Amino acid sequence: MRALLFDSGVGGLSILGALARAELDLTCDFVADSAWLPYGDKPAAALSARVTAIVQAAAQAWEPSVVILACNTASTIALDAVRAVLPMPVVVVVPPIKPAAERTRSGVIGLLATPATIARPFTQGLIDQFAAHCRVIRVGSAELVQVVEAKLRGAAIDHGVVGAVIARLFDGPDGEKLDAVALACTHFPLLRDELEAAAPRPIAWIDSGDAIARRVGVVCALASHSGAVRLGRVGFTGNAAAIRAAFGAVGFQTFAPILEDAAGFRIAPMAGFGAA
Ligand code: DGL
Repeated sequence: MRALLFDSGVGGLSILGALARAELDLTCDFVADSAWLPYGDKPAAALSARVTAIVQAAAQAWEPSVVILACNTASTIALDAVRAVLPMPVVVVVPPIKPAAERTRSGVIGLLATPATIARPFTQGLIDQFAAHCRVIRVGSAELVQVVEAKLRGAAIDHGVVGAVIARLFDGPDGEKLDAVALACTHFPLLRDELEAAAPRPIAWIDSGDAIARRVGVVCALASHSGAVRLGRVGFTGNAAAIRAAFGAVGFQTFAPILEDAAGFRIAPMAGFGAA
């Protein structure tokens, strides 16, 4: 079985990590649209068209059994368009509002995402459906995405940005009751330790990784602990040095168990999408 993961950048690695923890017998290819990162400040229509075109091109070239849209900002705008052009199943990461609403005791949850995801009608639909009984503190940050990209390049973490995000979650109205935060950007679980350390008290930080791993297992008819995840091809559209550094430095170490067995590992620009 072969999966194709798509994200604007290294955020998809949080989903890859969840697949690895689930020990699915799966080869994973990865495409990062790093030329357009961050997605969170791009116009919706152009973003939808671009995501659809890149995912379609990669799926045609690599013929995965399943495509994983490992990007909330892409899923919440391009889900239907991507599904319409692909013959294989598409598993999408969407804001984990339902599990956050189930977890809270106080009825106050946080939604931490990109500015685009915060504002999408799709996201509002999830809130209406699953968290109508909750007060939702919405915090959109494109800067936090860049902090994660820097972290995975091995660069210093901007703790000022992390602190500002924590302040927006906890210091506003009802912030003192906040007890669960939905991490609705796949980059943010990769910064979980820093978010936890900056928070004024322990709360539940909820991401989509394990749920996506379970869903991929069902779609591919793979039991958990059926084998190991292997990393196959990595495509990117932006700066070669940055994506190589992410996979080659912290990425390689973080996902060493996957990469140990990466005989087929190749990293190359996606032709036709403005690679640097
Ligand atoms: N990782 C993406 C997400 O889940 C977005 C990052 C970006 O803004 O490019 O929303």
